[in-house]
Amino acid sequence: MKNAAAFWDRIATRYARSTIADMPAYTHTLERTRSYLKPEDRALEIGCGTASTALELAGNVTEIVASDVSSKMIEIGRGKVADRGITNIRLVAADLCDPALGPSPYDVVMAFNILHLVDDLPASLARIRDLVKPGGLFISKTICLGDERVPLKIRLFLKLLPLMRLVGLAPDVRFFPVDQLDGWVRAAGFEIIEAGNFPASPPRRYLVARKVQ
Ligand SMILES: C[S@@+](CC[C@H](N)C(=O)[O-])C[C@H]1O[C@@H](n2cnc3c(N)ncnc32)[C@H](O)[C@@H]1O
Repeated sequence: MKNAAAFWDRIATRYARSTIADMPAYTHTLERTRSYLKPEDRALEIGCGTASTALELAGNVTEIVASDVSSKMIEIGRGKVADRGITNIRLVAADLCDPALGPSPYDVVMAFNILHLVDDLPASLARIRDLVKPGGLFISKTICLGDERVPLKIRLFLKLLPLMRLVGLAPDVRFFPVDQLDGWVRAAGFEIIEAGNFPASPPRRYLVARKVQ
């Protein structure tokens, strides 16, 4: 996890300046997410980066705890939140397993573009389950690089990943298909109530899942 924090700290400033690759897909899943949030909800976002999505959703809930393993991402996020005068986002530098995120569970836990980066996804999903109230929601979006819908030219590029990781140009990434992700989410104790791929290729799996009581 130390390595992950060091990688994301190093690229945080550049990441903050980057633009969203597929704006229609982002807007669609943002709107779908908004449709599930209630003004009285307390939400947790894990792997929030520089809080761009938390800022979009802050007006739809009572409070968002926006967390990330990279303290540099959190520092940039704090600046953005202060600049906008938003008072209901609490930024926390913490790994998903950090007790600072619990023990009191949340109405909604969100994880956008992070599940492919964690070491042991079934264990991370079990942790997420503990962070969601009974009947509460887990909302996520995850690139599924082990899926057959990943185009050939991207597959060829991905062969360079181990080398890029070695020289510090890429994070540690896990490859799995969409079906396996769905299966892990169900096995962790969630019922999937909405699913789709936005964009379709390479698939970024959008899931809304309710914690089974
Ligand atoms: C690809 S970025 C996504 C950021 C943001 N969610 C977005 O969609 O723009 C992945 C983020 O996950 C964070 N991250 C990676 N592993 C993590 C972990 N185990 N716990 C918490 N955050 C983690 C990184 O620091 C980084 O900010």
